[in-house]
Amino acid sequence: MNDHRRIIVFDTTLRDGEQSPGASMNQAEKLRVATQLETLGVDVIEAGFPAASPGDYEAVKAIADTLKKCQVAALCRAAKNDILRGWDAIKNAAHPRIHTFIATSELHMKYKLQMEPADVLKQAVESVRLAKTLTDNVEFSAEDGSRSDPDFLCTVFESVIEAGATTINLPDTVGYAIPEEFGNLVKYVMENTSNIDQAILSVHCHNDLGLATANTLAAVKNGARQVEVTVNGIGERAGNTSMEEVVMTLNTRPNFFPQTTGIDTTKIYPLSRLVSMITGILVQPNRAIVGANAFAHEAGIHQDGVLKNPMTYEIMKPETVGISTNSLVLGKHSGRHALKAHIQEMGYELSEDEVNLVFKKFKTLADKKKRIQDEDIEALINEGVLRSSEVFTLEYIHVLSGNTVFPTASVQLMINGRPVQGSLEGTGPIDAVYNVISKLTDTKSELLRFTISALTEGTDAQGEVTVRLKEDGIVALGKGSDSDIITASALAYINGLNRLEYLKAHPPKEERLV
Ligand code: KIV
Ligand code: ZN
Repeated sequence: MNDHRRIIVFDTTLRDGEQSPGASMNQAEKLRVATQLETLGVDVIEAGFPAASPGDYEAVKAIADTLKKCQVAALCRAAKNDILRGWDAIKNAAHPRIHTFIATSELHMKYKLQMEPADVLKQAVESVRLAKTLTDNVEFSAEDGSRSDPDFLCTVFESVIEAGATTINLPDTVGYAIPEEFGNLVKYVMENTSNIDQAILSVHCHNDLGLATANTLAAVKNGARQVEVTVNGIGERAGNTSMEEVVMTLNTRPNFFPQTTGIDTTKIYPLSRLVSMITGILVQPNRAIVGANAFAHEAGIHQDGVLKNPMTYEIMKPETVGISTNSLVLGKHSGRHALKAHIQEMGYELSEDEVNLVFKKFKTLADKKKRIQDEDIEALINEGVLRSSEVFTLEYIHVLSGNTVFPTASVQLMINGRPVQGSLEGTGPIDAVYNVISKLTDTKSELLRFTISALTEGTDAQGEVTVRLKEDGIVALGKGSDSDIITASALAYINGLNRLEYLKAHPPKEERLV
């Protein structure tokens, strides 16, 4: 890692990314994302904030115990108990890292911490010293660094490096910085922190003004060697710097950026889809790199140019980020082997049992739909594999609906393996189904949002439903897909209820970080 042109990619999808409203993931989901991040080639995974809740601790520990190549970081406030708890979660990791932080801006020190700068400095140094007794790999972050006094920032960085920090991180916590200004601040820190050669300078930007990627790249241009990012740019408020934007900018513009990363770019798109499926946070169609329209050419003159030479309008090839250009794929007569090969080509790593589960669902869908496309297969993976440990599952659903009858639904669910059934009316078929499910599960969630869309073109397309539910102040997203939109709606509702159950058993963090 001593090559100054090699940028260290620190992924915080599982920590800062998980702070996106409604994005909480369960332990199995976090482990799946962590494993794919390792395959993608990120250098460090920030797995969570162990002191925040027992659920966070367990998830961080499971990731630390499993991963072999990646460094696994635990976030801890600059306080003894946080650091000891964080270390306990990651101590068995192949490459553990303690990441401790305290705010250094006047605003945060005066109003949030109610501490004098000298005391903040002392606490930062003591925390790094304590962390250093546990591991050699210690990162220190100066929260709200971009709004801190530059000289105080350099003093803090110099002192924590002296205390043993091997990475110092400069966050633009509230997404306030402007690229030129942030680049200059990084340069200032590089030039005015006397022992900076003994540490790696990192940056962590938020996207409140839509400038997170630009700020991160300005920092790289001025000497930052670690970038903190999330998949799809998810994160608190407007999110964090997006991994795919930074990696693909470095990759696409080597004449401007001599820096490289260890990322296998062909795994970017599958991971983007996975994170979107697991968190329920949709990727906007015009999003750079991973949006549905990122490589779609609509204007005739563009299409003509691309056909003659793709370089006319395409600065990257879709295959470079793992988007399969051959999206019409399988049908009724395709076998398990072909499906398995295609799933792998799409970038998913499933066990044999998981492939069997998806294959079973694939056969059922292929009886109803002639052309099975990548979007269909993804939905089958989501329905068949990514829904482990569910309390409620759907057995059957029968609906009577039309313009001259009262919509009525009969539903059978399994609740912890026990069958229950019931029938009720509603203002429409979905309302009737939701009324029965709510009664059977004895839940009283409020439906905050309901969206439905077609996964592919054609009237035989699968419908995909996303719901946002709220119960007892807890918000969860649910997703479901099926060729029958009433069934898709039921699956989304049940998925949301399962997520609420999980969140009730693993209360969200008492501490929300920025
Ligand atoms: O945005 C921020 O300042 C953070 C720190 C904890 C690194 O997330
Ligand atoms: Zn942050």
